[in-house]
Amino acid sequence: MKLGILTGGSDCQGLNAAIRSVVRSTLVEKDAEIVGFLQGWKGLVENLFIPLTMKDVSGILPIGGTILGTSRANPRKLQDGFSRIEANLKQNNVDALIVLGGYDTQGVALELHKRGFPVVGIPATMDNDVGCTDYSIGFFSAVNVVADAVDKLHSTASSHHRVMILEVMGRYSGWVALYGGIAGGADWIVIPEVQTNLSDIINHLKNRRKLGKYFSIIVVAEGATMHEIPVADVTEKDEFGHIRLDRRSVGAKVGAQVEKMTGFETRVTVLGHLQRGGSPAMFDRVLAARLGYKAVEMVANREFGKMATFAGNRVESESILRVVKESPKNVSIDLYDIARIFY
Ligand code: F6P
Repeated sequence: MKLGILTGGSDCQGLNAAIRSVVRSTLVEKDAEIVGFLQGWKGLVENLFIPLTMKDVSGILPIGGTILGTSRANPRKLQDGFSRIEANLKQNNVDALIVLGGYDTQGVALELHKRGFPVVGIPATMDNDVGCTDYSIGFFSAVNVVADAVDKLHSTASSHHRVMILEVMGRYSGWVALYGGIAGGADWIVIPEVQTNLSDIINHLKNRRKLGKYFSIIVVAEGATMHEIPVADVTEKDEFGHIRLDRRSVGAKVGAQVEKMTGFETRVTVLGHLQRGGSPAMFDRVLAARLGYKAVEMVANREFGKMATFAGNRVESESILRVVKESPKNVSIDLYDIARIFY
């Protein structure tokens, strides 16, 4: 038996931990071989791969990024993308493929499955917007970075009596903003799933001053929209059709309006790719160990066309078809309501 593995789409913390788990489970538990395709789907289309041994995964558990590299390459957009993938899998005698990434990556895996190739998915994205799984690998690491940033902004905000806007990633889901904002004690959290009025934020900031709270921290998700704040009309798209959300500069726009309408000195921080870098959180390391092991079990049991999931502290599996249908997964509004208690 020979397995292939790849990481596709955006990187996130915990990918290496998951690769290590898959490789060790394959080599130790199943006595099979495994190769890693490089740079996401590009590596499969162009036949770029490396054999993976115990030595290759030794010491990678706490390291961010992915030793296999990644890209947003989309085989649908490449000339003969899928037939080249199939030819390369056949030529290298790969019996099954394990695919780590968000719902775009799982969508390509689904297409490969529909064409008859055995695939198994593992959810990995800091956005946590993959359907059918409570958490994806990388999410809690990103939340740690956001919460740490909110903690740090507290001291400088209080020293200067300023409003601090923190723009965070998460595409069109507010998971990272909401968890990071609650964990850090943000004074308002703006997420794509909930329509926020700027006037409500302004009133809230003014009330806080009246109560003797001379600083405030507002977390804004990059994909959030507000009636009163037209963001830059961005046309630049990646290979999966997603626009460059950082170019919308929603944080800067909110900051400028807040300063104008309150008269309070305001500063903006865009956390950007710091959220995806560095060592994975302990939760992600354990999740990666569990999902990686499960994926190899699924291959051994010939449970193909499915993704390993984490639901209610149980590792399970779900058809990739359903996963893709239920993505992007929105935040639960119950949790957003809890966050408001702390404003
Ligand atoms: O999907 C993960 C993500 O980090 C999003 O939160 C963000 O919008 C996007 O990727 C940015 O990707 P890039 O690596 O292309 O800047």
